[in-house]
Amino acid sequence: MFSNFNMIDNEKFTKRILITGGAGFIGSHLVRLMVNKYPDYKIINFDKLTYAGNLENLKDVENAENYFFEKGDICSKANVEKVFAENAITDVIHLAAESHVDRSIEGPLEFVITNVLGTVNLLQIAKEKWSKNEDHVFHHVSTDEVYGSLGEEGLFHESTPYDPRSPYSASKASSDHFVNAFYHTYGLPIKMSNCSNNYGSHHFPEKLIPLMINNILQKKPLPIYGKGENIRDWLWVEDHAKAIDTIFHKGKIGESYNVGGLNEWKNIDLVKFLCKVMDEKLGRQKGESEQLLTYVSDRAGHDMRYAIDASKLEKELGWTPSITFEKGLELTVDWYLENKEWMDRVTSGGYQTYYENMYDKR
Ligand code: NAD
Ligand code: DAU
Repeated sequence: MFSNFNMIDNEKFTKRILITGGAGFIGSHLVRLMVNKYPDYKIINFDKLTYAGNLENLKDVENAENYFFEKGDICSKANVEKVFAENAITDVIHLAAESHVDRSIEGPLEFVITNVLGTVNLLQIAKEKWSKNEDHVFHHVSTDEVYGSLGEEGLFHESTPYDPRSPYSASKASSDHFVNAFYHTYGLPIKMSNCSNNYGSHHFPEKLIPLMINNILQKKPLPIYGKGENIRDWLWVEDHAKAIDTIFHKGKIGESYNVGGLNEWKNIDLVKFLCKVMDEKLGRQKGESEQLLTYVSDRAGHDMRYAIDASKLEKELGWTPSITFEKGLELTVDWYLENKEWMDRVTSGGYQTYYENMYDKR
């Protein structure tokens, strides 16, 4: 549905929420949750549809009466002002970003433009449009990568000093600082969440888990950066969407919340486990897919370990992850096996060339 057909309907809805990046991986799960759970909210998905944005991700809700899509760029003042005015936006949940670390190493400027300038443009327009006497929320969705890299011990807490080390995390850290600056300087009612690595359906296959699923299916090499000993803390994407819903509704204005599932995996162990799950599902011989493991040169500046302490969110707001990693990974593999056309379609554009160039360089 297109928002300009429905300007007169704005008053029907108790909130009119602009979700930026709603056609991406996490954004599409959040849009689905909000559209289904809150029929009295108008959900406006505002997305530029870059290589990572795909409206096919939202086929199941596209005809819902409270769902609207508006194609636009968060960096454009005109685009953002238009969507605010036409929908009388009451709240923003901001996910639109360039999200892939490897791409940020190849080309940092795009990350500064989208993640920093785009966020400041949104903040500026929200500040201008919203009256201080009304209830509004600007929820900024960020990453645990802003905290840098951990050694063998310890977890990231909300109070951990920022220490971003990749162009991607530097751009996200910068956007977080601007969000906080708009709260402290202008009193903009912000909330923030910093989440660990997500996995699940509709994940673009440049990221570790869907890339490995795709390559296992096609019997292509499985590129492990460095020794494969780097550790990531994985969370089911639907649990992240539920956490955003919880923080958006119950979190305190001006505060940030860490989101994660205490689920650390070394990359090599995770990929070997995935090989085992997929060999069973595909009826292949035990150990067959592991033979595709290929060690390639390391990511520049590769952060060693991420691990999140989400106890503030659990204790204060009552959120907990709903699913084990083993179950979530199985559901994820099943989804990709049942949706091979989705994978074919998203890999048939410029992405394939990008990936092959990257791989050749390693
Ligand atoms: P994604 O790359 O899958 O999706 C990003 C979406 O933003 C796409 O739909 C894209 O079209 C859109 N977009 C990009 N530039 C835009 C612009 N200028 N204007 C409007 N739309 C634009 O990303 P994701 O993995 O779903 O991540 C979403 C957010 O969550 C990001 O802010 C990311 O930093 C954060 N995050 C991601 C993870 C993760 O594991 N994927 C973890 C923590 C936080
Ligand atoms: O921690 C949250 C972050 O997680 C998000 O903010 C980012 O948007 C998201 O992309 C993700 O970043 P990572 O760099 O951790 O994810 P990625 O899937 O790219 O890589 C996960 C790990 O796997 C990392 O240690 C690099 C390694 N890797 C990745 C790829 C794509 C490989 O060994 N081989 C690969 O081919």
